[in-house]
Amino acid sequence: MPTNHDAATITAHYSRGGGLLERLAQALQDDGVDPQCPTLEQLAPYDQFHGRGVEATEEAAALMPARPGERLLDIGSGIGGPARWLARRFRCHVTGIDLTDEFCAVARELTQRTGMVSSVEFVVGDALALPWPDAGFDGAYTMNVSMNIADKARLHREAHRVLRPGGWLLLSEIARGAGPEPDYPTPWAASAAASFLATPQQTRDSLVAAGFEVLRFESTREHALAFAARSREAVARGEKPPHRAVMLMHGDVAAAAMRNSARALFEGRVEPIEVLARKAR
Ligand SMILES: C[S@@+](CC[C@H](N)C(=O)[O-])C[C@H]1O[C@@H](n2cnc3c(N)ncnc32)[C@H](O)[C@@H]1O
Repeated sequence: MPTNHDAATITAHYSRGGGLLERLAQALQDDGVDPQCPTLEQLAPYDQFHGRGVEATEEAAALMPARPGERLLDIGSGIGGPARWLARRFRCHVTGIDLTDEFCAVARELTQRTGMVSSVEFVVGDALALPWPDAGFDGAYTMNVSMNIADKARLHREAHRVLRPGGWLLLSEIARGAGPEPDYPTPWAASAAASFLATPQQTRDSLVAAGFEVLRFESTREHALAFAARSREAVARGEKPPHRAVMLMHGDVAAAAMRNSARALFEGRVEPIEVLARKAR
């Protein structure tokens, strides 16, 4: 597996020339929502940029041993949907870090509009060089980020370094399945050259090598298939699909990206996984 990702390729893939905040405002208006003061629920179809959206965030949250007042780190935080959702749910402080400048700017703006600036903040930066000293966070998570990162060993070592002893790491990720590579584009990469899917076993091994104890390691494939079926039913009834983040982010390539990722899921080329790991005390 290659060991380097190219930051410019990743940010160009996600930013697509800008204009995201304006597109989001239009989408909210079309939903009958005031874009200046949306609720987290109204934002959820758009700001949870991972498979199954807020349903997967809630499922991950149920596994997080987070307590009020703790400091959590969202690695690859996108436009901040998971960070705001979890900060409210746990009454925690969440710091997000993301490579894509525009995503961090939109994340800050939405955090302002939802009145959450005292509990959620965003930093532009690289998951492979976290700009914090050792042991400052109680928990950390990544949601659909590692597919962009070739060097899983360093990703997991960095997460381990910034966690306090006994701190936890939750992964809600997409792993490589048994079949061939997905067709591209997918929501996370324009081509195979920018996609770094690790198998579940490689992910587990990398976590252990970084010093984590793996407490839980599950495939969420059945949940993803059920969600896809529910989305198709909603569209067949003439409703909007429940999760619209890929359409918002990727515009004219969204349809192809969603088709390819659905096919990869059905054919077992990718495997969504949920992992809880802990740093030794
Ligand atoms: C599919 S989006 C998921 C965003 C967010 N986790 C969510 O679920 O809403 C992947 C995100 O990972 C970010 N990313 C990719 N590689 C990264 C890296 N090396 N360091 C920080 N962020 C990265 C991208 O900029 C993008 O925002």
